[in-house]
Amino acid sequence: MFDTQPAPQPGILQISAYVPGESSLAGNLKPIKLSSNETPLGPSPAAIAAYKAAAESLALYPDGGAGDLRRAIASHFGLDPDRIVCGSGSDELINLLAHAYIGPGDEAIFSEHGFLMYKIATLSSGGKPVSVPEQNYRANVDAMLAAVTPRTRLVFLANPNNPTGTYLRHDEIRRLQQGLPARVLLLLDAAYSEYVRRNDYEAGLELVATTSNTVMTRTFSKIYGLAALRLGWAYCPAAIADVLNRVRGPFNVTGPALAAGAAAIADRAHVERAVAHNEKWLPWVATEVEGLGLRVTPSVGNFLLMHFPAEPARNAAAADEFLKLRGIILRRVAAYGLPGALRMTIGTEDDNRRVVAALAQFMGRS
Ligand SMILES: Cc1ncc(COP(=O)(O)O)c(C=O)c1O
Repeated sequence: MFDTQPAPQPGILQISAYVPGESSLAGNLKPIKLSSNETPLGPSPAAIAAYKAAAESLALYPDGGAGDLRRAIASHFGLDPDRIVCGSGSDELINLLAHAYIGPGDEAIFSEHGFLMYKIATLSSGGKPVSVPEQNYRANVDAMLAAVTPRTRLVFLANPNNPTGTYLRHDEIRRLQQGLPARVLLLLDAAYSEYVRRNDYEAGLELVATTSNTVMTRTFSKIYGLAALRLGWAYCPAAIADVLNRVRGPFNVTGPALAAGAAAIADRAHVERAVAHNEKWLPWVATEVEGLGLRVTPSVGNFLLMHFPAEPARNAAAADEFLKLRGIILRRVAAYGLPGALRMTIGTEDDNRRVVAALAQFMGRS
C-alpha cells in the first residue's frame, strides 16, 4: 500500500487549532475588543518611537542574539543576560521548549483550565498531554505531582493562569518544583506577572536562579502593549538557554521588535500607569458584575472570568451574542473547558462601564 498523500507526524491531527479572541464584528466599525488581554493603554510612546526609528534599517537582518534587548531586560531585573533567550512571542519559546524536551510518547502535565498552547505544543511534539483537575479554578499542586510518571518530561504552569486569573503562591510553586524529579522541566509562564500585586507571589526568577530544571517565560504582549510585534523572553538555567539557542531560528525576533522592546522595558512609568489602571478597574468590574448576580473568579491578572447561569436565555453563549450585537467582544472559553463562562479583559474606563451596562441589560437589571 502506498500513502496517497504526505502524512504529518502522529499527534498533529489531534490538535484543535488555536482560535484567537475575535477582533471584528460585521457592520461594526470599531468594536470594544476585550477578548485577548491586551492593554487599554497601548505601548509606551518611547517604544513606538523606537519602532518607527527601526524602519530605517529594514533592509538589514536584526541582531540574531538580541544582545541589546537581553542586556536591557537583565539590567532591569538584575539577571544574567546569557541566560535570557528572546522569542517571537512567548508562544514561540513554549513551542521550542516542548520540541526540545518532549519526544513521541513522552508526557507533559498542565492544569485543567491551563493556557491552550500547552496542549498544542505537546501534541505537535508527539507527546501525550496530561490535563490535571483544578480546585476552584486553581491549579492543584498535589494533583499535578501525583500525575508525574516515568514518561513525564515537562510541567507547564501559567502563573497567574489564563483564562482563570488565579495564581499559586510562591511556597506552592516551590513545593511543586521540589516534588518533581530533576529530569522534569518546570515551565513557569509568567505572561501576566507584572499585574500581580500580592506579597506571596513570585514570577519564577528565584527558582530559575536556584534550580536546574525551572524556566520562566515572559511576554511583551500584555502590560507592555507590543502584542503585534510578537516578543517574549525566557529566563533559563545555562544548559537550557544553550538548548534554546540551538533550536531557535537565527533571526527569530525582528529588528523593530527588539528596538521597541528595549525602549518599553526602560519606561517604568508607563508600566506603573498600566498597573494602577488595572488595580482600579479590575475590582470595580468584578464588584459590578457580581452585583448583577454573576459569579466572578477572583483574578490577579488584567482579565476576569465571569460565570453565567445554565438557562439558555441567560447562558454564556447568549451573553456573548447579546454583547456582540452591542459592539462588545469578550472571549468565549468553551475551548478551555469553560462553556458557561466568558473572559473579559479590563479595558478603558469607558469600555468597562459599557460592558457592565450591557451586562446589566442582559441580566434584566436595568
Ligand atoms: C498564559 C499565556 N502565556 C503565553 C501567552 C502568549 O503570549 P505571546 O503573545 O508572548 O506569545 C499568552 C497570551 O495570551 C498567555 O495568556
